[in-house]
Amino acid sequence: MNEWSPLFPGLRLRRLRRTESMRRMVRETWVRPEHLILPLFVVPGSGVRKPVASMPGVEQRSIDETLPLARAAHDAGLGGVILFGIPEQKDPLGEDACREDGIVQRAIRQIKAVVPELFVISDLCFCEYTAHGHCGVINAGEVDNDATLERLGQSAVTHARAGVDMVAPSGMMDGMVKTLRQALDTAHYPHLPIMSYAAKYASAFYGPFREAAESTPQFGDRRGYQMDPANRREALREVGADVAEGADIVMVKPGLAYLDILREVRSRFDLPLAVYNVSGEYAMVKAAASQGWIDEDRTVLEIMTAFRRAGADMILTYHALHVAHLLQG
Ligand code: PBG
Repeated sequence: MNEWSPLFPGLRLRRLRRTESMRRMVRETWVRPEHLILPLFVVPGSGVRKPVASMPGVEQRSIDETLPLARAAHDAGLGGVILFGIPEQKDPLGEDACREDGIVQRAIRQIKAVVPELFVISDLCFCEYTAHGHCGVINAGEVDNDATLERLGQSAVTHARAGVDMVAPSGMMDGMVKTLRQALDTAHYPHLPIMSYAAKYASAFYGPFREAAESTPQFGDRRGYQMDPANRREALREVGADVAEGADIVMVKPGLAYLDILREVRSRFDLPLAVYNVSGEYAMVKAAASQGWIDEDRTVLEIMTAFRRAGADMILTYHALHVAHLLQG
């Protein structure tokens, strides 16, 4: 007997891997369509379908063209969709984000009218709405946290009135969850859940999204409010703060380069946990697959499985419809 492996040959781990029926029975992690949330980019006009060059398969769509996608998301059994609005006009404050008839508010109303059973989440941030592309109000060259909070509350209430099922603040402002909870409660939406982008890093992987959402900062970058990729303990403080402020679901973003953060949040907190499989992660898979360098189907399933194994309950991903169809065989 090999002294380095005293359990062998009695122990043979390969026994449990020999057939698919065996593997299936001992599989620890499953991905289901209901775990997946599809991001949608909504633009003004009608009949608009504008491909995003860096994200093959993703388009900016006007509301009328978004409705079939919403229907498809529901038919595929997805957990839901998350909406990003790109307004007609951008201005320093991002006024459209707070209008009752803003682009996202109209999209919410129409989707809920046509596919009422679909779970609709709205991203709450100002970067798609501000002319400068930052995630809030600029004062003296930087994003003014507290001035932004006030407007965030107003924006959330308009989403609630439009019928959204959950709001997802993504701007990394301190106190954003507390402010939103108060604003929603005051406006008589105490049951509307908040999914907080709790640990959101200042990441190069957001590049293609900024083309899709037309939200590239016109000066500087987001490192003054999004997290330093080098920090792990700080992510736990961020999540802890959002939990204390009343978040219902917390998110880690991006995903692939941050699986350690996901696992750590999973083991320290008991809330439902989301991960955002961001635009750059999607673009890399699509680019390599289009060259024939990786098998796209297997790669995306493996990535989704990794998120679930690391501890994610739900996954925001541009691959959502594709994955749902793969799962249905
Ligand atoms: C808005 C927001 C961003 C993403 C989601 N919400 C961009 C950013 O912070 O620059 C990125 C999503 C992606 O890359 O897929 N603040």
